[in-house]
Amino acid sequence: PEDIRVYEFAEACGKSPAEVITVLFSLGMMVTKNDFLKQDELEILGEEFGIEVTVRDALEDVNYVGDYHDGDEDIDDSSFVTRPPVVTIMGHVDHGKTSLLDKIRSSKIASGEAGGITQHISSYTVEKNGQKITFVDTPGHAAFSAMRSRGTAITDIVIIVVAADDGVKPQTEEVIAHAKASGCPIIIAMNKIDKETANIDMVKAQMAEKGMTPVDWGGNTEFIGVSAKSGEGIEDLLENILIQAELLELKADPTAKAKAAVIESSLEKGRGPVATIIVQNGTLRIGDNIVCDTTFGRVKAITDDNGNAVKELGLSETGTVLGLNDVPTTGTVMVVMDSDKEARDIATTRAEHARAKELSKSTKVSLEEMSGLI
Ligand code: GTP
Ligand code: MG
Repeated sequence: PEDIRVYEFAEACGKSPAEVITVLFSLGMMVTKNDFLKQDELEILGEEFGIEVTVRDALEDVNYVGDYHDGDEDIDDSSFVTRPPVVTIMGHVDHGKTSLLDKIRSSKIASGEAGGITQHISSYTVEKNGQKITFVDTPGHAAFSAMRSRGTAITDIVIIVVAADDGVKPQTEEVIAHAKASGCPIIIAMNKIDKETANIDMVKAQMAEKGMTPVDWGGNTEFIGVSAKSGEGIEDLLENILIQAELLELKADPTAKAKAAVIESSLEKGRGPVATIIVQNGTLRIGDNIVCDTTFGRVKAITDDNGNAVKELGLSETGTVLGLNDVPTTGTVMVVMDSDKEARDIATTRAEHARAKELSKSTKVSLEEMSGLI
């Protein structure tokens, strides 16, 4: 919605802009032919003209990643393979999200850790029994909200971390609400069980009160006691993730042109715009022409989650990409195009569209303000 102008709408349904404006005017809605139509205005017009109005973003299929399920028809699935799950770790501040991820990582990644170089990327791919899992750490849950509000669902499974010595806190409750809304399977990691004050039954009771009843209490939520300090329970957690992932039957096509979600972005001295991504479909390679919202470019360099230069990133893998002309907004989708012209054209069209929308918003506001004064 809000992406079609009055004159475009008129053209699409064979009316003159004046007819459209007249209808809206008679209902007290002031628009000019260059204004964008709102959802309710579109509905009214549809009714008035006796036509069915469905709104589609003309560029939406460029970003469409889609859900694939076994047995879907009309899809050539010959090149589809099982892809690793993307797991988002959420929870109250200081309950141990980052520590847990660090522990999982250090026990699962053989090399590159000795130097202890601080990584700012908060997403990692680890391997368990030869199967990969990509984790996304969330500082608070801001990033997750941004993703959701942009409709970029990157998460397959949510892990809610609750410190067993502290229990359910306000942010835990917020996170539960987000996790439920996502529709993803949820696993509760009760962390810090190494502490003397840890109280697993308290956590279970508090969570059950929030509608997350443990399996061993007759509910259907998995609770796993873990310690980011000692490493206890981590194998259990990973196994559980893989079981959930198997049930989800996650599939994607490694031979497709890549689509990837931007989970972080920044402008770095000497490197230019840097995007941290998770590949959702296809394989991203150096030299690919990419478009990402209103930015575009050609992939100049890729680093993996260890900071090592690599030539490509595969399904559900995470790393950073250099080569965009500007810093992309987090939560947007990076898409590989056939030519640099195509990538540039889409980015430019989007930028113009965004600018026009801003302008039309500001004129509308001033009109409303004026009528408020009269
Ligand atoms: P934010 O990113 O700020 O929301 O915090 P976080 O959830 O990532 O917590 P973080 O991993 O930074 O851990 C917070 C504190 O808890 C640190 O001092 C950790 O050392 C400690 N901690 C984390 N996990 C454990 C654990 O399993 N046992 C014990 N004893 N301490 C832990
Ligand atoms: Mg943290």
